[in-house]
This record gives sequence, structure tokens and C-alpha cells, in this order.
Amino acid sequence: MCGIIAVTGAADPLRILLDGLELLEYRGYDSAGVALVCSGDAGGFLWRRRAAVRAQSIPELHKEADTAPAHARAGIGHTRWATHGAPTEQNAHPHLDCSGRVAVVHNGIIENHREIAAGLDARGHVRTSETDSEVIAHLVEEHLAAGATLAQAARALLRTLRGDFALALVSADEPDLIVGTRRTSPLIAGRADGLGLVASDISAILGLTRNLVAIGDDEVALVRPGSIAVTDAEGNEVAQQLLQVGWEVEAARREGFEDFMSKEIHEQPRALADTLLGRIGADGTTELEELALGPHELRSIDRVTVIGCGSSYHAGMVGRLAIESWAKLPATAEIASEFRYEEPVVDDRTLVIAISQSGETVDTFHGLREALRRGARTLVVTNVVDSLMAREADGALYTRAGPEIGVASTKCHVAQLALLQVFALHLAALRGTMPASASARLAAEIARLPGVLEDVVGRFEEYRGVAQALAGVNDVYFLGRGLGYPIALEGALKLKELAYVRAEAYPAGEMKHGPISLIVPGTVAVVVATKGRLYEKVLANVEELRARGASVVAVCNDDDDTAPRLADAVLRVPAVPEALVPAVAVVPLQVLAYSVAKARGNDVDRPRNLAKVVTVE
Ligand code: F6R
Repeated sequence: MCGIIAVTGAADPLRILLDGLELLEYRGYDSAGVALVCSGDAGGFLWRRRAAVRAQSIPELHKEADTAPAHARAGIGHTRWATHGAPTEQNAHPHLDCSGRVAVVHNGIIENHREIAAGLDARGHVRTSETDSEVIAHLVEEHLAAGATLAQAARALLRTLRGDFALALVSADEPDLIVGTRRTSPLIAGRADGLGLVASDISAILGLTRNLVAIGDDEVALVRPGSIAVTDAEGNEVAQQLLQVGWEVEAARREGFEDFMSKEIHEQPRALADTLLGRIGADGTTELEELALGPHELRSIDRVTVIGCGSSYHAGMVGRLAIESWAKLPATAEIASEFRYEEPVVDDRTLVIAISQSGETVDTFHGLREALRRGARTLVVTNVVDSLMAREADGALYTRAGPEIGVASTKCHVAQLALLQVFALHLAALRGTMPASASARLAAEIARLPGVLEDVVGRFEEYRGVAQALAGVNDVYFLGRGLGYPIALEGALKLKELAYVRAEAYPAGEMKHGPISLIVPGTVAVVVATKGRLYEKVLANVEELRARGASVVAVCNDDDDTAPRLADAVLRVPAVPEALVPAVAVVPLQVLAYSVAKARGNDVDRPRNLAKVVTVE
């Protein structure tokens, strides 16, 4: 999420910043900005320009190049993917302190920004954005006023800030210096002939140097022209972790992965962690303060309809089951393009939740409008802050998966699953429909999901090995029951769109009512057979398929030895509470579709006939 670049010692720092931002644009493109450190007759000063024209912000900044002071040697730049605050120019980075002499660019989320902002406001600071990032500039301002250096101020930040962050700082009073620090979010420093560099991604500076240093968690890098010093949080110099990079720039953008899709599959633990950050308290309570639909409004709801298309619809199916079983509200999930024309019966006691990664899918947008026209309360779950739908609905909840470049949704889908379930817990708590202890247990399990997914994406090659056997198939059934059914639908969709293989998803128990006559020796069936209420029933359905000669691939738990005995191949996943299986079990199916598509020579990032944002009906 978001991209950072900083340079010092350059004859033309603005050009380096803008070139770097272009390479970083895939990390966020709703706004961009730069600040240069300049020296003038009356001392140093900062020159800042920002633009917020979606996907066009960097060309806008180029237009400002003629007005940039010629004598600047250092600067910082940022391309943004909004999480806190709309993608406006005011919210674009770099952010300045009150004096305009300190600038910061920041990636990540400052969890305690509200608390910090309240203190700053009380001490008379004037904040000009809605971001969590701006507080950093004002905190640095206070430390500098108390006599600290920029590096000392950065170390003090490490004691104050909570959350995940990577940031670069400049001050008009230390014109050659870039200070970078981080916790969890990545940040690197680089050195070349007379140049010092800081960036969130290797790709942004790889064209300038291969002398790269990884800044560690809670370390502070002092970068000057041609030199890098790294200290720990106490100011002791530490050994530098040199980075060996064999990649070229294009591969570096994919962080060495073959394509964006495999990169994004691997980013799922982080996408989930960012999405959950600050939303589940230590006591298991849910915190969705940005929701904009207050407790009173939510308590008045007597029915929920979830709408979406494709993968978002599948996430909606899982979300609606959680809402029904935890918040005890009648809930349905509808395909948005159908919902719109169904004359839906909704009123001001119905909550319509529109799910859309892009926030722009026209079918979902019109479904949302139809719900609004009929007087429903509306909520959007999207990955794009202030997107078309977010602006239209009564409330918005944002997944924080960062930009998804691959056309097939992966990390946004799992982030949607988790966020909808957090919302379901939130509703259940408001309505008092779940014992607090049960809800706290589930919340704790949701909070553990990023770690579980880390394990699952670590099995990428194992899943890919299983998928090799399916490279030549032309027909696949995906079967599941209960929560396994939306997973089956998602697996089938992925195989269709990426591998161009006919794939049909069916509720496993429904096969005997017709489709089973299509099963002949060798037909491939992928069955979601993880442990849960319907496990035995699913195994019985697997027996029915095997009796007709089907070749079965089972998604099953690590500790299961029954399902593997019935299957020809297994895709194993760790056991999690049944309600949380979708976010875990969908991963091997993503890898399955990915691998079959690759084996067939397809472009997984840009499958034929598809677009990332579908703006036609
Ligand atoms: C499938 C996929 C699509 C999208 C659908 C809705 O991998 O990505 O099915 O889920 O086009 O898009 P959004 O979520 O942007 O509304």
C-alpha cells in the first residue's frame, strides 16, 4: 500500500522522485506528491506540490517541474492508496508540520493517531488533513523545537507510534539529510555516487543503484549524499543488512514473483492483517468507528441483503451466512446485476451491503442505487476509499488490501471475507444475539487468520504440484456444502477465468438431483471437505462420485486421514473454526487455477476478455 521514494545529493532531485513515483504507481495511484529541501538567502525552506487526479497525479506533478527551485538537492515523494481520509490533494503526502519546515511521507497505518491528534490539537497544532499520517510531522516539530535532531525525533516517534509504518522525513534545517524508519512496513536505503536514497520498494531505485540496505524494524537510517548510517531505536549504530538483488526493475515491481497474481496470493496475510488492524480489540470487541451507521441505525435493521458480482458476490454469500447465524437477522445474498431488476422488497429497515473491490462495478453500483431509491440503509465494503459507491452509500467499510493489479481478485477477496465477518460480529454485539465470550473467541480466531494464511501461502509450491495433474483437463466440478459452497463457486470462477477450463460449482448434496449423471470415469471433482458440521455428509457425497469413477481432489485439513483415503489428491490446509474456513480454503483453489492457467501458457494477470474494473452493464 502506497509508495515512498526519497533522494539526497542529486542535481535534479525532482526528476528522480517523479521517475521513482512512476515505478511505484502500481502500489497506489489515487494521489501523489513531492517535497524538495531548498536553500534560500533567508535559510532553508521546503517546496511542496501534490495532486489528486486518480491515475493522473504524476503527470500533474510533472507540469509543476518548471516552478521547482533549481538549487534543491534533496526531497521526498509519495504515491498514495488511501486508507484514512479521502483521496484529495489535502490528504496527499508529503504532510508538513505547522511551520512548513518538516515533511513526512508515510506508508501503513498509525493505530493511535486519534489519541495523538487530540493531544496535538490541545497543544495548539493546526492539522490540515484527515490522514493518520499528518500527526507524524507535528510530533517531529515538537521534538525539533525541544532541541532534538531529525534523527533523535525519529527515534522518539518509535516510542510514540503504534501500528505498522514506514516513513521518510526531511527538515529544512538539515538540508542534506533523509531520515527513514519503519515497523513492519518495508523500507530500504540505497547509496550511489554522491547520492543517498530511501524507498519502500526496490524497484523505485534499482535503476540508480544496487548498493541497497534493508532497514530493520525499529531501526533509523540516516541517509546523506553517498552515505548511509543505521542505528537502533536508542541511537546505537547497528550493522547494515546489505540486500543482494538479482532482479531487473520489472521483476522488482513484482518483488521477484513471476506475475502480479502470484505476488498478490502471497500478499494475502498482509492484506488481512492490514484490514483487521485496529478493528478487533484485545478483549475481542469489534471497532468499526468509520462505519458512519450508528448503533441506533444498525439496531433498527430487521433484514440484510448483500449484493455483489463475481468474487465479491461469493464473499457476500459467506458474509450473509455470518450475519444470519451470529446477528440472527434474516439475510440473503444476491447477484447485483439481477438484484437491480428484481423489484427488490427493501425498506428503511433493510440494510443493503454492496461489496465491490473496485467500488465502481456498474452492476453493483446500480444495485446500490436501486436500494437507495427504495429507501434502504446502505453500506459499501470496498478496497477503494471514496470510490463511486463509497460516496453514494450511507456508510463504507474499507478493506486495506492495497492495489490489486491482477485481474482475478485474490487478496481483496480474502480481505472482504474477514471484514464482513468482523461486521457480522459487530452487528451481533449490538443486537445482543451472541454470548460475549463466544464472540470474543471468534474475534480472536479472526485476528489469528493472517498467521494461518502465512502458513497456507507458504504451501504455494505444494499446491502447484497437485495442480500439474489437472493441466490437461477440460471439465471440472467444484463441490462443497454450507460454507464450502461459496468456496467451490470461487474456485470454479477462478479456473474458468484464468485457465479457460469449463468448471461448474454445485452444492455437493444437490449433485444427486441431476448433475451426477454427467459424472463418468475420469471426471475431475474438487471437493471442499474440511472438518465441520457437514463433513460426514460431504464424504458421503464424495463416495457417490467415486462410485461413478470420478477423480477426486479434496481440500481437507492437515489432521484428517479419512478424506485423503477417499481422494486421488489432496490440498491440505490448517484447521480453523468452521466459520473461518473460506479465507483459508480458498487459497489452494486460487493456486490451482493459477497453476493450470500457467501450465496452459495463459496470461494470469490479464486473462482474455476481462477487465479489472467492469464499468459496463
Ligand atoms: C474474479 C473477479 C471478478 C470481480 C467482479 C466484481 O476473480 O475479480 O469476478 O470480483 O468483477 O468486481 P468488484 O469487486 O470490483 O465489484
